[in-house]
Amino acid sequence: MADEAYYPGLEGVIAGETALSTIEDGLRYRGYSIEDLAREAQFPEVAYLLLYGELPTSEELADFQSILSESADLPGPVVDLLANLPVHAGAMDILRTGISACGHFDPQADEHDRQANINKAVRLLGQIPMLIAARYRTTRGLPPVTPTGELSFAANLLQLITGRQPDATAERAMDVSLTLYAEHEFNASTFTARVVTSTGSDLYSAVTAAVGALKGPLHGGANERVMAVLEEVATPDNAEGWVRRALSSKRRIMGFGHRVYKTGDPRADILRSYCRELAERRGDTDLEEIADTIERVVRDEKGLPPNLDWPSARLYHYLGLEVELYTPLFVASRVVGWAAHVIEQSESNRLIRPRSRYTGPAPRNIVPLPERE
Ligand code: CMC
Repeated sequence: MADEAYYPGLEGVIAGETALSTIEDGLRYRGYSIEDLAREAQFPEVAYLLLYGELPTSEELADFQSILSESADLPGPVVDLLANLPVHAGAMDILRTGISACGHFDPQADEHDRQANINKAVRLLGQIPMLIAARYRTTRGLPPVTPTGELSFAANLLQLITGRQPDATAERAMDVSLTLYAEHEFNASTFTARVVTSTGSDLYSAVTAAVGALKGPLHGGANERVMAVLEEVATPDNAEGWVRRALSSKRRIMGFGHRVYKTGDPRADILRSYCRELAERRGDTDLEEIADTIERVVRDEKGLPPNLDWPSARLYHYLGLEVELYTPLFVASRVVGWAAHVIEQSESNRLIRPRSRYTGPAPRNIVPLPERE
């Protein structure tokens, strides 16, 4: 075993096959570039593409959206549970519990065939915005918002949380961010979902585990930490000094670097223009100036480009969303990618069980308990 190849963090290791997305020639979902999808499709079309394999016809999309609307309902006991969890519990922890709890009320929870998994994925896609909004609004003493079924997925998501219907620019920006967050081959949370699925476990278990993996600051949790950086810097004048001090003290700048994109994350490039547009509309571009300066210095000093979480934090801030919602919003989209991987893994399954390189003591004998010192 000592001579076997070992790649810490599994860097560069091909750990399985997928037909869902590739980063080989820019990022593509089932062959379509994310630039084209972000420009020409809405998030529900992307969700349909990932789950079913093809973009929907108008009729298929209408059916899909009406099933999604019907799914936007939480079992009463889940609503009560969310309201009774400790107030200090983090939004991602609450969402993880909420998703797991929804599984208890799903009649297909333990069915593993393709159609059952698609049904469960669509139900979760409809329920996750409700879970996020329910907890957010009850902890603030705000009444729940009832979905009308007439808004787009992105507009509905924003209205459920804020209580206000977004305008077309805000709706479009949210929709694009959902498309960009939807899928990303074998990232840590997706790989987690596939490992759980590979044991023969169910979709709710896989998604619950994936939420736990996404929460970490090196993965989805980075978008919330990015906002903390921007708040710490506070003004454009501080940006250059702040980032140079941070780098010289070996601080890790959240929102920069990526395991698989060494020259740039194509998703970040797309979202940057939406940030600029929203900032100009507000008449306050300070955060854009701060972000531009930090980007320039981190690239010059470390050769690191920003990743998707860098612009998405500003985008959500401009949409009037509180920081604790940022990673849960990532879940609202990525659940589609996770579910599609669960389906793919279960249809071509082999238990995922790698080896480890042993670094413990050499073989030794047990000293009987009374003789141990
Ligand atoms: N700020 C400063 N230095 C960095 C950063 C950063 N954000 N990222 C990597 N480096 C440095 C790191 O210190 C190391 O330098 P040296 O060789 O001098 O010790 C070098 O770059 C390689 O870093 P690594 O941690 O070995 O690289 P990795 O491929 O394991 O890490 C990463 C990838 C995403 C964990 C890392 O870049 C990071 O921690 N970034 C900040 C967190 C973040 O933004 N995560 C979101 C990832 S993308 C979207 C998502 O998954 O949500």
